[in-house]
Amino acid sequence: MTQTLHLGQILSFDGNPFEDGPGAAWHETHGALVVEHGKILAVGPADALRAAHPKAAQVDHGAALIVPGFVDAHAHYPQTAMIASWGKRLIDWLNHYTFPEEMRFADPAYAADIAGRYLDLLLAHGTTSVCSFCTIHPASAEALFTAAQDRSMRIFAGKTCMDRDTAPEGLRDTAQSAYDDSLALLNRWHGRGRASYVITPRFSPTSTPEQLSALGALWAEHPDCLMQTHLSEQVDEIAWVKALYPAARDYLDTYEAHGLLGEGGLYGHAIHLEPRERDRLREVGAGLVHCPTSNTFIGSGLFDMDGLMREGQRVGLATDTGGGSSFSMLRTMAAAYEIAQLRHRPLHGSELLWLATQGSARALRCDHLIGNLAPGMEADFTVLDLASTPAIAQRSTRANDIWEALFPTIMMGDDRAVAGTWVAGRKL
Ligand code: GUN
Ligand code: ZN
Repeated sequence: MTQTLHLGQILSFDGNPFEDGPGAAWHETHGALVVEHGKILAVGPADALRAAHPKAAQVDHGAALIVPGFVDAHAHYPQTAMIASWGKRLIDWLNHYTFPEEMRFADPAYAADIAGRYLDLLLAHGTTSVCSFCTIHPASAEALFTAAQDRSMRIFAGKTCMDRDTAPEGLRDTAQSAYDDSLALLNRWHGRGRASYVITPRFSPTSTPEQLSALGALWAEHPDCLMQTHLSEQVDEIAWVKALYPAARDYLDTYEAHGLLGEGGLYGHAIHLEPRERDRLREVGAGLVHCPTSNTFIGSGLFDMDGLMREGQRVGLATDTGGGSSFSMLRTMAAAYEIAQLRHRPLHGSELLWLATQGSARALRCDHLIGNLAPGMEADFTVLDLASTPAIAQRSTRANDIWEALFPTIMMGDDRAVAGTWVAGRKL
């Protein structure tokens, strides 16, 4: 028997709630999802799909809610073991905690251990896809791609490139080796199974202009790859960029001048943007990735979700672990809500869920494959228990609709709310 019928409550999207309101989501209390060969064959009311697929195996999720698997659009898997490190802001945090931990990935066995641990943590939190930085070591990327392949996960990742003396000895490549190693990994992994290679200059302060140009050239030669980096996260960082690149018009220009601005570009944080930067990002259709738990944890600032969405930017949502303080996209949605509240724009539950699924998949240019529940899409989905703790249960019993029922789980939920994570139709 190759078809499986999943029964439960279902939420999916037929539009963008930022544009069309909460009605852009489709909810069915007695819904069903038919899965065949790792893909979604049909979504609809349970009775109709039961009748249409009488021979399908059945998995009954009861009152639980089936949502698209969460998509984390920016993370650093090598920072798994130093998440929640106390008391520093970005540049000191990198030097004090991050770089020493990333040094340990010179050992391929350590990389393999953390890669497996990291992906299992993601699955426990309902995240089915991630776009991650690795370290400068090619084996760190090899480890993550291999661990994702073992779990059939759709993975986006790249070797992090840093060749400037602002990065410590032992954690530097060169312009040429960054090009060569990235190309070798790209040839080995890009398009293999569910893997995509992402060209990954860490950020302009840790690269020389020569390295940025070499990676810009690599991207021009492989325009179907994504490119990920960081942009305008913290005020001190922006001043540092201006000192290192005195001829640049602004932070974004350090990328633009080296061929690193384009529609497949993913720019993490993007908080303190200047008008020219916003215009250029919108013109090229680049992806901006909001990392709310990181922005409060490292003290970076308040992302302008409302303004950026209104002007038509492409925005995804991410944990940014270990700068972010959680592996959970539920906690990340809650933090996005809190930051938007500080800017007087209460995000609706449909907007939060959309950001964590469709929004991130759109930023990663794969919203035709993941981030929604619709026929033809890959069967990556998460089953949420909407009464996972006594505090959430007593709150959700008062709900009048699905958004009132889901919101307490978004705000107070964690891995206990994840009743199951299904990847390509298999429970992991
Ligand atoms: N900017 C450059 N590298 C990093 C990193 O690892 N984490 C965060 N949050 N910002 C960065
Ligand atoms: Zn980051």
